[in-house]
Formats: sequence, structure tokens, C-alpha cells
Amino acid sequence: MEYFPKDFLWGAASASYQTEGGVKEDGRGESVWDTFSHTPCKVRNSDTGDVAADSYHRWREDVALVKDMGLGAYRFSIAWPRIAPNGGTDWNPAGFAMYDGLVDALLEAGVQPWATLYHWDLPQALQNKGGWQNEDTARAFGAYAREVAEHFKGRVTHWFTINEPQCFIGMGYGSGEHAPGLRLRPEDQLLCWKNMLLGHTLAIQALRGIDPSNVVGLASCGGVCYPASERAEDIEAARKRMFARPEGFGGFSHHDLLDPLCLEDNPGKPDFIGLNIYNGIAVRAGENGPEDVPYPMGGPRTAFGWPVTPEALEWGPRFVWERYHLPLYISENGLSCRDWVALDGKVHDPGRIDFLHRYLLALSRAVDAGVDVHGYFQWALIDNFEWAEGYDQRFGLVYVDYATGRRIPKDSAEWYAGVVKSSGGAL
Ligand code: FCB
Repeated sequence: MEYFPKDFLWGAASASYQTEGGVKEDGRGESVWDTFSHTPCKVRNSDTGDVAADSYHRWREDVALVKDMGLGAYRFSIAWPRIAPNGGTDWNPAGFAMYDGLVDALLEAGVQPWATLYHWDLPQALQNKGGWQNEDTARAFGAYAREVAEHFKGRVTHWFTINEPQCFIGMGYGSGEHAPGLRLRPEDQLLCWKNMLLGHTLAIQALRGIDPSNVVGLASCGGVCYPASERAEDIEAARKRMFARPEGFGGFSHHDLLDPLCLEDNPGKPDFIGLNIYNGIAVRAGENGPEDVPYPMGGPRTAFGWPVTPEALEWGPRFVWERYHLPLYISENGLSCRDWVALDGKVHDPGRIDFLHRYLLALSRAVDAGVDVHGYFQWALIDNFEWAEGYDQRFGLVYVDYATGRRIPKDSAEWYAGVVKSSGGAL
């Protein structure tokens, strides 16, 4: 039985600060994450991204892994401070070299490069002038997008402007758990939000202006609600709750971002919506309106403590599709496990296989229901620096021995390759 269309795009994802290392090489400037991770007590175990998975030097191995798994696409991000070390327009040509190699190798391997322009490593020089509180950051982002688009014209055609604005503003400028570690008043966070929207719009205009065939979206995150049962009342309750939750994720939710952007006449309207979905909340129709169903005591949780709720990957895309009618991609989904190298030298991760199996079956139900979802990026290709959690959380299909940089595909990598090869038929 086939669950996914033949042309469904199967991929895996990564991000610059989380995987590259090489933070002082070839003229790279500092990012807010360098500053933050080197500030005591900000990141678990005082971990930093200084070396990370060393992909700055080992990207050839990463491409080989992508190719061996038979993936159609690889999502990676470009480090803004490599291209613009001071955050301005003094471009650093050496900063492109590694990405040139990566992009060309992907193309040669028949893998589509999907590039994210901003996965949270803001040049520190811009943060020194207020970061996203300053409208100049949005303009600088537009200029950087133009420079990158020009450079990769004809080679990279699929783009994400910004990854999870909800998260980097909510946690970076709200709760202070992420770089730059600020705890601003709600109105000041809203200023960041406004500038982020402008930055996204300038970037999308630059990408389209340089090459009208560029396909541009962004990766959104936020609370996902799913019905506690198949009853029509519960479905309606979950739908309502998903787009009404005032608190959202880090203070902001999917609709905070997508409602304004997806208006017909908005120049920032994306070509597709990327959804990063890891879990959701069950909702039922209560006597006084929609109510959350508490997660069962002792219910399954990932190593991070996140609930295992495959239904989120069916209903999240369904509700977003109904509301915006734009092509969807799952730009991130996955989990962290307590992985280690077993006595036989392999990394066995049955929990990851079971998790992905359940989530992909749920996604297939969304496809079946007519949701226009075109692809799925597993987070992550390789283990990496999980922000404030440092290296404790291993999200990769491929294990990284951080002492040596050695990569060992986990059992799930082979399993995922089988799913990809059979277009989901192996599920
Ligand atoms: C998302 C981030 C990604 C990764 C996963 C686990 O919020 O976009 O970089 O950290 O979570």
C-alpha cells in the first residue's frame, strides 16, 4: 500500500550554529549564540557551538549520508555572520566557500538544497544596535537575502526566510532562555515581531526580484491542537482552540504569523508554509467551550520530556491547510532519544523508529484527507547543539561522537531510507 504520492519530497534538516562549528574560520563574525553560549549558566553543561558536529569541515560526509539515505532534499541554514561579519554590507566572500561546496555536492548527488536564511544566529554587531528591536536589522536582513540570492542564483531555488519567529522572539526576547537572552516587555517584543515581519517581506522580495522562479516560504511553529476523538464536536473544538489560544508558543502562535502574511495583497505572502511540528494538545468540546485534555499520567515522552502525540501531524497540517490554502511542507519533526553506541558498535534507537512511524502514518492521513502537503523534513540529519540544552538532546538520524566528529548512522537512518525508497509504502 502506498501512503504518499510518488513525488512527495523526503528530506532531513539541520541548522548552521547547531552543526557547523568553525566559528572563527574564514572571517566569520560573532553571532548572538556565540555570546550567549559563552555566558555562564545560559546553556546546559556550558556547551557551546564552537565545534558542534564540525560540519564546517565534514559537510562532505553529511552529503554522503543524505545521498545514502536516498533523500530528495536537504534543509540547512546559512550563517548570516559568515556572509556579513559586521551585520552590514561588507560582504565576506570567503564565507560563501563552504556553502558553495555543500550546494554543488548536493546538486551533484541529485539532492535539492533547501536553504534557510535565518536560523537564529544573528550577527552580534546587529544585536549591539538593538537586534530585532531595531528596524535597521530588518533592512540588513533584506540586503543579506539579496546578496545570498544573487550568489546562489540558479543553484538554490527553494528557500525559507526565517525559522520559527515565534520561538526566537518568544525565547530570545521574551523568556530570555535563548540568545540574546533578553526579557522584554510585551510591547517591546511586539516591536521585534513587527521588524521580523518586515525583514521576512524584504527578503522574499529580494529573492523573487533576483529570480522569479525562487520558491520561498518560512518555517512556523506554535501550539497545535488535535481532537480528542473523531466526534464532530471535538474536531470543531480543536480547530477553534488552535487558532484562539492567546498564549501560543513563547507568546506567539502559528496564526500570529500566518494570518497577516497570508492575506492576498501582502507582498510577504509565502509560496508555501513550512510547519515545524513536534507535539500537540488534545482538545474536546466541554460544557463551556473547547477544553484541553490533560496528557495521561505516565504517558510516553521523548528524552526532552516532550509528549508523544502523532495526531499533531495529522491535524496540525489539516487545520493550517483549511485556513490558508497554501502548499505545506513539514519543515521539522523528530525527537531526542538517549542514544549511545552499543557494544556491537551500532546505535539502536527503536524509540525513534516507532515515533517516526506513528507520526508519518498520521501525516499520511492528512494527505489522504486532501491536505496539500508536499514534503517532510526530519529533524535532524545528525546530532547537534540543541540550543539551551547543549549536546544532551540527540535528535539525529545519525549519531555524532563529539570527541572525534565521527558519524554513525542510527538504526532509524536505515529505517527512514526504506520509507523514502518505498514512498512511504514501508510504513
Ligand atoms: C526547533 C528548532 C530546531 C531544533 C528543534 C528541536 O524549535 O527550529 O533548531 O532545535 O526545535
